Amino acid sequence: MNIDRGKYGPWAVIPGGSEGIGACIARELAGSGINSVLIARKPEPLEQVAQEVRNLGAEARTLSLDMTAPDMLDRIREVTDDIEVGLLVYNAGASLRTGPFIEWSLEDVNQVIRLNVVGQTTLAHHFGRRMADRGKGGIVLMGSLAGVAGSPSVITYSGAKAFSQIFSEGLWWELKQHGVDVLHVVVGSTNTPAMERLGIVYKRGEGVESEWVAKLTLENIANGPVFVMPEMAEGFAQLTNPDRRALTEGNAAFILRNTEGTWD
Ligand SMILES: NC(=O)c1ccc[n+]([C@@H]2O[C@H](COP(=O)([O-])OP(=O)(O)OC[C@H]3O[C@@H](n4cnc5c(N)ncnc54)[C@H](OP(=O)(O)O)[C@@H]3O)[C@@H](O)[C@H]2O)c1
Repeated sequence: MNIDRGKYGPWAVIPGGSEGIGACIARELAGSGINSVLIARKPEPLEQVAQEVRNLGAEARTLSLDMTAPDMLDRIREVTDDIEVGLLVYNAGASLRTGPFIEWSLEDVNQVIRLNVVGQTTLAHHFGRRMADRGKGGIVLMGSLAGVAGSPSVITYSGAKAFSQIFSEGLWWELKQHGVDVLHVVVGSTNTPAMERLGIVYKRGEGVESEWVAKLTLENIANGPVFVMPEMAEGFAQLTNPDRRALTEGNAAFILRNTEGTWD
């Protein structure tokens, strides 16, 4: 795949670039000569992906950082202020755990909002301004089918991904006036280390591979505001179904099926 380095390079910033979908995106970008700033908490997987990027002929910087930290933007600026960032791929995103909302601590609830909502918004604002000044660039915000209807056991995450979609739609219109692409990707069941750690192991071939998600994401950067992974198209189309109760029940059945019925 050839990604336009002139428009989306020379550097990409990828929070959540150390494994799964984010790592695959960094490798694909390296193949087009686009360098990456990889951000995640665990240093070892970060260094491993950085080395792979370098082996493919591109440059890589790493930043070990929890995206929910209060000084997140300052830390990211320390490693990006001296480079031209043409692409932001905000891949980091998760529910800290599953289970009934009222049994979560309020701190865990707020962490989900910081990672998924505050993180996306802060970096879209910071890098979006600079891209608009240059009249080019791209912003990719990872979403989820969980963001299109209530998803019991991960309701804060679900609400955060709904925010991401609506936010991306408006941002897509605003930034296209400046030559900057915005894409919200409705990711579906994907086999990643993060999901395994959450205890979600997809059954009956429900999960796709990270490489596939990365490839389609990059192929569709300019096809915003929303790209729905093909496997999720039928579920997404149900949005037109006015029966919100049935949609939520369907999502509950899905999560129970994939957590062996032990979601609490
Ligand atoms: N996998 C699925 O089935 C699925 C379904 C729907 C939507 N999505 C969305 O797709 C995106 C990526 O999927 P994924 O998480 O399954 O796999 P992934 O691509 O492996 O992403 C996880 C990455 O995010 C980093 N990360 C997680 N929490 C972080 C934090 N607090 N601060 C900094 N980095 C953090 C992880 O590294 P560290 O752990 O070392 O920090 C890792 O690099 C997410 O936005 C997710 O919501 C995934």
